[in-house]
Amino acid sequence: MSKLECDFCGTGDSNDNPIISGDNASICKACVNAAHEIMVGSKEGNLVDKEDNKIEEQSPSVKLKTPAQLKEILDDYVIGQNRAKKVLSVAVYNHYKRIFRNNEIDDDTEINKSNVLLIGPTGSGKTLLAQTISKYLDVPLAIADATSLTEAGYVGDDVENVVTRLIQAADGDVKKAETGIIFIDEVDKVARMSENRSITRDVSGEGVQQALLKIVEGATINVPPKGGRKHPGQDAIQIDTTNILFICGGAFDGLEEIIQKKQGGNVLGFNQEKISKNDDEIISNVESHDLVKYGLIPELIGRLHMIATLNEITEDDMVHILTEPKNALVKQYVKLFQLDNVKLKFEKAALKEISKLAIERKTGARGLRSILEDIMLDIMYDLPTFKDKTITITKDVVTKEKEPKIA
Ligand SMILES: Nc1ncnc2c1ncn2[C@@H]1O[C@H](COP(=O)(O)OP(=O)(O)O)[C@@H](O)[C@H]1O
Ligand SMILES: [Mg+2]
Repeated sequence: MSKLECDFCGTGDSNDNPIISGDNASICKACVNAAHEIMVGSKEGNLVDKEDNKIEEQSPSVKLKTPAQLKEILDDYVIGQNRAKKVLSVAVYNHYKRIFRNNEIDDDTEINKSNVLLIGPTGSGKTLLAQTISKYLDVPLAIADATSLTEAGYVGDDVENVVTRLIQAADGDVKKAETGIIFIDEVDKVARMSENRSITRDVSGEGVQQALLKIVEGATINVPPKGGRKHPGQDAIQIDTTNILFICGGAFDGLEEIIQKKQGGNVLGFNQEKISKNDDEIISNVESHDLVKYGLIPELIGRLHMIATLNEITEDDMVHILTEPKNALVKQYVKLFQLDNVKLKFEKAALKEISKLAIERKTGARGLRSILEDIMLDIMYDLPTFKDKTITITKDVVTKEKEPKIA
């Protein structure tokens, strides 16, 4: 480290704001104070301290937020999934607390990071949670699909390339990347085949898990600067993954059966229907050994300390998703129409019908967008001719039985 620089806010050393350096990181007085205020503040229970604007000013590169504040941000964008939001908020909070503490205290107590495993059906908000939290934390985030990963040496994407992507997300700032977030989606798809399931999985599944384990555990690795395969003699960037927060996500189809069997839950007879109706509840009882049974290696599960389950999106949720988040689809269309001086209205029954169609697609809330785009296409096409009018989308428009009302 040639020039002293705060790893949190990037300011240089000065008399007013001196920098303390540890082995691997440095922190300035302002950031120590900010960290202190947050720790002490939360102890006293004033979680949503309005004073925190001051803190943000002091450490622009890592906006410290309390778990309650983090959850509030998630609430703005993600409907429902309360438990997952809480788990994620606490994990992220601990993650940054841990990084601050490591610089603040000089004994060698090690606070382990708490990586997160999100289990939930497709389109229930797993990726959205990770994206939202990283956007508002202003930390780099890399998202990778476990199915596209291979162990080093196989055709495909090396696990280590994910780390390269994180460095790219941090605009090449390795230090920033070292405290970033990596989201590994579809981890369930690299489960090794277990005798319980018939999912065909190539043998490399376990190898990918081993490779993931290495970076999740924390290691100093050399990654190619531009991704791709490693070549002998090629320049490599060295990066320590110890402080990278890992969030893994997966749908884990069939997991409920494993849990049910364990619970002695009835697999035959008339109870079947009653039980299967409540998959969400069954899944919420998931324990580590269920995941081992599913085919994740115990070492990897051991590193995913916090497990949160997400609920399947219901029809009611869909309506909320369409209208409530800050970037809700309906809000976006209304704005888009406004630009042409056209007022757009959706009848409640129309929103319900759209939700119903989305449920039929079985892709969670993901289906909403294309359904809506399909409905809106013709209207959008003629939009400039509807200046100063009001367009109302009724249920019959959604079912394509009628044209929209234009008044
Ligand atoms: N709980 C939710 N609240 C708001 N929008 C959601 C929610 N779940 C899914 N969506 C919408 O569906 C899209 C796909 O969700 P995503 O998070 O990618 O699902 P997955 O759980 O498969 O990762 C999101 O971009 C978002 O628009
Ligand atoms: Mg996803």
